[in-house]
Amino acid sequence: MQRKYCTVFALIISISFAFADNLSANNWSSDDDTLPEVLPKKMRDKSDDEIQKAVFQAYENQLKVISEYTGHTLDPESPYGFFKDEMPISNARTSTPESDLIFYNNGIRGFIAHIKNSIIIKWVPNQVVTELGWKEMSVRGRYTFMNSSYFDQGKYHIQLQDVKYLANTTLSENTESYPSTVPKSSISYKSVKVSFTGGLPEVIKISDSSNVKHFLEDIVFQQVADRVVKDMRNNITAAIRQVIKPYIIIKNDTNTNFPGTNGKLPTGSVGYSISNMVISGLANAEHKLKKVTSKIATNTVTADVRTTIHNLDGKFDFKLEESKPTVGKATFTISRINVNISFNMLKPVECKAEVVVNQSNIKYGTKLSADIEKTLTNAFVDNIKIQLNTIICKASGQMIKPGK
Ligand SMILES: *[C@@H]1O[C@H](CO)[C@@H](O)[C@H](O)[C@H]1NC(C)=O
Ligand SMILES: *[C@@H]1O[C@H](CO)[C@@H](O)[C@H](O)[C@H]1NC(C)=O
Ligand SMILES: *[C@@H]1O[C@H](CO)[C@@H](O)[C@H](O)[C@H]1NC(C)=O
Ligand SMILES: *[C@@H]1O[C@H](CO)[C@@H](O)[C@H](O)[C@H]1NC(C)=O
Ligand SMILES: *[C@@H]1O[C@H](CO)[C@@H](O)[C@H](O)[C@H]1NC(C)=O
Ligand SMILES: *[C@@H]1O[C@H](CO)[C@@H](O)[C@H](O)[C@H]1NC(C)=O
Ligand SMILES: *[C@@H]1O[C@H](CO)[C@@H](O)[C@H](O)[C@H]1NC(C)=O
Ligand SMILES: *[C@@H]1O[C@H](CO)[C@@H](O)[C@H](O)[C@H]1NC(C)=O
Repeated sequence: MQRKYCTVFALIISISFAFADNLSANNWSSDDDTLPEVLPKKMRDKSDDEIQKAVFQAYENQLKVISEYTGHTLDPESPYGFFKDEMPISNARTSTPESDLIFYNNGIRGFIAHIKNSIIIKWVPNQVVTELGWKEMSVRGRYTFMNSSYFDQGKYHIQLQDVKYLANTTLSENTESYPSTVPKSSISYKSVKVSFTGGLPEVIKISDSSNVKHFLEDIVFQQVADRVVKDMRNNITAAIRQVIKPYIIIKNDTNTNFPGTNGKLPTGSVGYSISNMVISGLANAEHKLKKVTSKIATNTVTADVRTTIHNLDGKFDFKLEESKPTVGKATFTISRINVNISFNMLKPVECKAEVVVNQSNIKYGTKLSADIEKTLTNAFVDNIKIQLNTIICKASGQMIKPGK
């Protein structure tokens, strides 16, 4: 069953999502133990204070991620990034007190043959952990060696075994804060063998050659780490989008299926109905987590969220069941809808949502009496309140992901 989040009331235009739908070849996952609703179960032995802090952070990160993808202004141009198998490494001159070793025409290859490629989303502490592994990689090029008694030139070959890339990037603000560089220590390896076509002896223990060690671990690894973080960028963004998807309840800016309503005019027994309602602007939403309150003793972790949706508009049809029925169309604008949501993350049936519709303006396409207009307008506003209330609390009821 899909897990959903109350918060989530966030409103994403699903069409532009289509590109991220096929991530099957990518190995991403959410670390569910770090989800806001799972954290309290993982932190049974912690104080209420520690729990509410951790839940607040995880939940706030989740809301930020939801908001970031609303409107899709931060979409990458293309969905995925791809490795080239080979990359050039800049020329380098390494020197020690005894000798100089110059590396040039350098290239490293083996990128596409990774045996591991995983992206793990952690809601706290706001991280995406990316790990890649390669059985082997090799660096080749030409070298010139010189010391006080010896000069040697030729080709070198550095063979690396069990290479690993492991680095963090941020989860929220992934697009804005994505690093252009990560530490060279993001790259590690198990063993190395370096051979030279000239007379230089083979190196199998990196500590035996500080020239090679410096070239490999400082220069090559920095360039490789930066290349990997760059090439993984779009896939990380796509992974975040996949992971956030189940938490987004209202996926479209425009809802063409918004439920209608009906009732009776206050005078007499004339029925009215509002139908075929279309509402746009649902993406103009701002979500803020106000407070998390933990009382584990009573199995309560309450989240208070405020959501504001601005600048809505739309239309509906109305009908008055008079002896000769009146049918007509109306258009509306709503300057703002404020929603306060309060729900217990451990028992989401305990949910309250307050909806206030501010400054709605309805234009009826058919001449109606002021009383009838007022009745229809009130019914319209109440319907929005009731529907949003229901959607939000129902979604929060479906959200809970049981902790392991
Ligand atoms: C998703 O990928 C699979 C295989 O990788 C492919 O067969 C399928 O057509 C793709 N679906 C879409 C919607 O791109
Ligand atoms: C990005 O994801 C695509 C699709 O899953 C995959 O083919 C590609 O190898 C990935 N790129 C990197 C750099 O991992
Ligand atoms: C996929 O990710 C999981 C979890 O990190 C990892 O154990 C597994 O090795 C990865 N598989 C591949 C093919 O990268
Ligand atoms: C110069 O380097 C060669 C090759 O590594 C080595 O055999 C020789 O001892 C070195 N000479 C000095 C003076 O260090
Ligand atoms: C990831 O970031 C955390 C701190 O947020 C740090 O402790 C950890 O060492 C980092 N891991 C890597 C692989 O950079
Ligand atoms: C949301 O958009 C999709 C695709 O455009 C459409 O199929 C779906 O009916 C829409 N949902 C609503 C509630 O309007
Ligand atoms: C929402 O809560 C704030 C205080 O956090 C309050 O000022 C506001 O009136 C409330 N709005 C609604 C619609 O309940
Ligand atoms: C609507 O918003 C205006 C301006 O912020 C405010 O003065 C007014 O009290 C609000 N009305 C309601 C019903 O919340």
